[in-house]
Amino acid sequence: MILSEYRGNTMFNLTGKTAVITGASRGIGKAIAMKFAKQGANIAFLHIFDAENAAQTEKELAELGVKVKGYECDVSDFNGTKAAIEQIIEDFGEIHILVNNAGIIRDGLMLSMKEEDFDKVINVNLKGTFNMTKGVYQHFMKKRRGRIINIASVVGINGNAGQSNYASAKAGIIGMTKSVAKELASRGVTVNAIAPGFIATDMTASMPEKAREAAIAAIPMKKAGQVEDIANTALFLASDEAAYITGEVIKVDGGMAM
Ligand SMILES: NC(=O)c1ccc[n+]([C@@H]2O[C@H](COP(=O)([O-])OP(=O)(O)OC[C@H]3O[C@@H](n4cnc5c(N)ncnc54)[C@H](O)[C@@H]3O)[C@@H](O)[C@H]2O)c1
Repeated sequence: MILSEYRGNTMFNLTGKTAVITGASRGIGKAIAMKFAKQGANIAFLHIFDAENAAQTEKELAELGVKVKGYECDVSDFNGTKAAIEQIIEDFGEIHILVNNAGIIRDGLMLSMKEEDFDKVINVNLKGTFNMTKGVYQHFMKKRRGRIINIASVVGINGNAGQSNYASAKAGIIGMTKSVAKELASRGVTVNAIAPGFIATDMTASMPEKAREAAIAAIPMKKAGQVEDIANTALFLASDEAAYITGEVIKVDGGMAM
């Protein structure tokens, strides 16, 4: 490689690729979408109950000169996600990268956790990841290439009091990541997970002040992570440079779960 190519930063180039990102109307998903678009990727993103932010995200992505479209779709709806993926393939031609990022929390000790709060968190976080992965599975298999990046959490590795539903979903995502990675490795498809620690987004802003302070105090780096920290890791995993990495879980947590 000649030196000018290094200077032009040809690394992590996603030009001509289409990424599908769930939950990209704000937070981590939006940061991933912006990062990928800056590297040339076209973006199809899913969102729900967040039309204003979704319109803003669509506008900001379009300003980067890539093709972009937002789809209102609940990731926990099996038939809805199937239809959305078919529509995206029709609109964009093909899909190269899937980022399963959409997620919710419904915290509470198990003693008081309602059945519907357990079901809801499993359905959006874990079943949503299943629905979307199943939706692109054959498409990726036939093309003999593809990248799947699942946003898990350090809570899925270490557990967390008050988050038995969320921890179960995220641990499930890690198991699913490794299983699908084994199924698709010989087809040129990589499947990896990112386990963020405590990242400054609307999700963590909704936590009680005391819980937020305690969470930050428990981080060796003594600060919350930024959405860009997760987006940078997602970009690496989506790139050609990460072609030989699969079934991996990368913690991005300021040392929280070491
Ligand atoms: N923020 C953190 O500290 C942190 C830590 C670990 C893991 N995570 C994970 O990162 C991901 C993003 O988190 P965030 O903090 O950016 O959250 P956020 O609440 O800011 O954004 C969540 C996004 O998901 C979308 N969404 C929610 N339910 C959906 C559904 N049923 N169908 C489609 N879209 C849906 C929302 O529209 C939104 O765009 C989640 O999976 C979360 O569990 C976050």
